Amino acid sequence: MPGIMRLLVRAACSNAKPYRLPAHGSGFGYTKLFVRAQTPDALQEESMACAGPIKHSLGMLFFALAAVILSGPATADTATAGKTIATSGAPGVVACATCHGAQGEGMAAAGFPYLAGQGVAYLTLQLQDFAKGERHNPIMEPIAKALDPAQIAAVAAYFSQLPKPFDAEALSAHSPTYPDKDAVGAWVANRGDWDNNIPACTQCHGPGGIGVGNAFPGLAGLPAKYITEQLTAWQQEKRAPGPLSLMGDIASRMSDVQITAVADYFSGLPESVKSGAAAPAPVSQGAK
Ligand code: HEC
Ligand code: HEC
Repeated sequence: MPGIMRLLVRAACSNAKPYRLPAHGSGFGYTKLFVRAQTPDALQEESMACAGPIKHSLGMLFFALAAVILSGPATADTATAGKTIATSGAPGVVACATCHGAQGEGMAAAGFPYLAGQGVAYLTLQLQDFAKGERHNPIMEPIAKALDPAQIAAVAAYFSQLPKPFDAEALSAHSPTYPDKDAVGAWVANRGDWDNNIPACTQCHGPGGIGVGNAFPGLAGLPAKYITEQLTAWQQEKRAPGPLSLMGDIASRMSDVQITAVADYFSGLPESVKSGAAAPAPVSQGAK
């Protein structure tokens, strides 16, 4: 379900439960977010359940309007303009495909992240942060600075509508409730480390780390080195802390061992789920 649609559904849905982070610790304060990690199917169910109370005719009008907004020609034109920049570049801008791949699938060997299927709000914010010098990278800062706001909107729209470079359905079906506790990466990813006030990554990034909505990027299949660098950049305050400072705070609580383990876990997840190696482990004794 496209992002705007989901937002509309959620806005109309009185059942939407806020995801709350605890108030203790220095950073979170009383953070309240309308976030839940969900599979596409669960989202579908949620929207159906939420749509129930809306009067039928009103509901139909609501969805019809949303569909019109979504299929409007402006969106298509924007994405087309974005495709031109992505594949051919623009004055002073190297084609994004050179490094991020012809389908936005990234270049894992070089450590270049995929952009395909990441949320439009997320991609826009990153380009704005690079342009403002609030997220540091010697390659991306000059590229983002050379893009004007319309070009940023166009490339973000283009990459967000490309298919994700992994099997999202298989990954989202993979959400072990009790992974092996000795497997630090799997544990932190799926259970968190509440002694240190670290929520499970999948709470916001979705089961299997496939990403949720517009602002919570997919982590599955990102290069391990890239994930490690991002978490370290937040610890060192070299990357803008993002919405509500969520990642800045979480990263600051993570140990080096946890960072490396969780980066390896998400990076390898698409392959290990494909090969069956990451099948849910049996419930282990003493899991908390
Ligand atoms: C010469 C290689 C290169 C080119 C060309 C390039 N990028 Fe990048 N891009 C990178 C690297 C490297 C990173 C990782 C930066 C970091 O570590 O913070 C990146 C990161 C990004 C990110 C952040 C991704 C995330 O998951 O947070 C976005 C968005 C992005 N690039 C968009 C673009 C767009 C749009 C273009 C074309 C206009 C482009 N890039 C062209 C190398 C490149
Ligand atoms: C409370 C919600 C929340 C939780 C829990 C969470 N994240 Fe995030 N994460 C975010 C948001 C929001 C962003 C986007 C930040 C931005 O816009 O710069 C993000 C971005 C990221 C990115 C950047 C991806 C990219 O493409 O550059 C990484 C890496 C990441 N998170 C790792 C983790 C890990 C590892 C965990 C678990 C230890 C975790 N996150 C838990 C909200 C969360």
